[in-house]
Amino acid sequence: MKFSKLGLSIGLALGVSMAAQAADVEVLHYWTSGGEAKSVAELKTMMEAKGHTWKDFAVAGGGGESAMTVLKSRVVSGNPPAAAQIKGPSIQEWGDEGVLADLNPVATAEEWDKLLPTVVSDVMKYDGKYVAVPVNVHRVNWMWANPEVFEKAGATVPKTWDEFFVAADKIKAAGMTAVAHGGQPWQDATTFESVVLGVAGADFYRDAFVKLNPEALNSKTMVDALNTFRKIKSYTDEGAPGRDWNLATAMVIKGEAGMQFMGDWAKGEFTAAGKVPGKDYICAAAPGTADDFTFNIDSFVMFDLDNKDLQKGQNDLASTVLSPEFQEIFNLNKGSIPARLNLPMDKFDDCAKLSSADFVRTADSNTLVPSMAHGMSTFSAQQGAIYDTVTEFYNNDDVTAEAAAEKMAKAVAAATE
Ligand code: BGC
Repeated sequence: MKFSKLGLSIGLALGVSMAAQAADVEVLHYWTSGGEAKSVAELKTMMEAKGHTWKDFAVAGGGGESAMTVLKSRVVSGNPPAAAQIKGPSIQEWGDEGVLADLNPVATAEEWDKLLPTVVSDVMKYDGKYVAVPVNVHRVNWMWANPEVFEKAGATVPKTWDEFFVAADKIKAAGMTAVAHGGQPWQDATTFESVVLGVAGADFYRDAFVKLNPEALNSKTMVDALNTFRKIKSYTDEGAPGRDWNLATAMVIKGEAGMQFMGDWAKGEFTAAGKVPGKDYICAAAPGTADDFTFNIDSFVMFDLDNKDLQKGQNDLASTVLSPEFQEIFNLNKGSIPARLNLPMDKFDDCAKLSSADFVRTADSNTLVPSMAHGMSTFSAQQGAIYDTVTEFYNNDDVTAEAAAEKMAKAVAAATE
C-alpha cells in the first residue's frame, strides 16, 4: 500500500459518512483556550442561526499537532468531519489525497478572488480551485510585555536582541521571570523563528525556511541565531518545560513574567481577561522585526461528503466564515485581523490596527514572510525536521549550534526527498 506525504493510506473512497446525522456540521479545531473558545463560539452561534447543528470536534493542544493526528485517523477510517482547521501548504497535501470538497461554486458566486489579498487566496486553492476558506491573518512575530514588571525592574521594552538581553537581565536581577515560555516544540519554534527574523532579516529567513536552502540552514548566520535563541532559556522559569502557551500568557497577564514571544492569539487571552493594550499590556514586534511580518492564516477545509444536507452545511459554513460580520467578531476575540480586504478596523485595538497596517506595508517592502513554526512555509515533514533540531538544541546544552545547524540542513534535505 502506498503512503502519501501525509502518511495516510486511504484504501476506501470516503463515500457517505454513515456516522454523521443529516444536518450535524461537525467541525474539527484546536481552539480551546479562553480567548480561542470565545472566538469559535461566535461561529457556532452564526451556524445555528442558519438552522444547522454545530457538532464541536475540539482537540486540545496548541499549534494543532494533536488535532492533525486525530483528524488523520478519522479520515483514514472513512469518517471525516464536515470541516477541519487546516492551513498553509498542508492544504496541498490534503488536496493530493483527493478528499477535499470543491468550494469554487460558493467562491465564484461570492467573488472571493476580489475579497481576498492574493497572499491569502493562493494558500486557499488546490489545482486552481478554492478548497479552503480563510478565517483570519495572525501575526507571529510579536512580543507581549507587562509594563509593571518592566517598571519595577527599571527596564525598557527592547527593540533589538541586544536590548532584549539588557532588559531581561534587569528583570531577572529584580527577582522576576523575564520570559514566560512553554517548552513545547511548536512554542520553541515560534520563538526561534522570531529570533532568526530579528537577527538575520527577511531575506535570510526566506532562504532558510521557505526555500529551504541548505547553505542558509547550515550557515554562520543560523549558528548566531541558534546561540541567541538558546540564551533566552536562562530567562525562563523552572516550570517552562511542557507548559501550555496560554498559561505562559497568563504569567504575563498576572505580572508573574515580563514578556512572552507568541503570535497574536495571545492577545485573545489578554482580551478575554479584560485587559487593555497600551495600558495593562504592551504589544511590540519581537526584537529586530518591526519592519517584518510573519503571517499565519487560519482556514477551514471541507471534506468531500456524499450527503446533500451536509454539503449545504459546508457551503453555509464557508459563506459565514468570509462574511464581514464573522470576520469582525471572530477576529476581535481571536487577536488576529480579518483575512477579507477593506473591512473597517475601527472596533479593533491598536495592536490589530498596527498589524493590519504592517501587513500591507511589509507586503510592499517584501518583508512579509510565512511562519515556519505555524505551518505556512513548508510541508509538514520539513517543518517537523526543523522542529526536532530546534527543540533538541534548545533542551540539550551538549549540542553545539554548529552541530544543530548542520543537522537541520540534513534533516530538512532528508524530509524533502
Ligand atoms: C493557530 C492559532 C492558534 C494557535 C494556538 C496557531 O497555529 O494558527 O489559531 O490559536 O496555534 O493553538
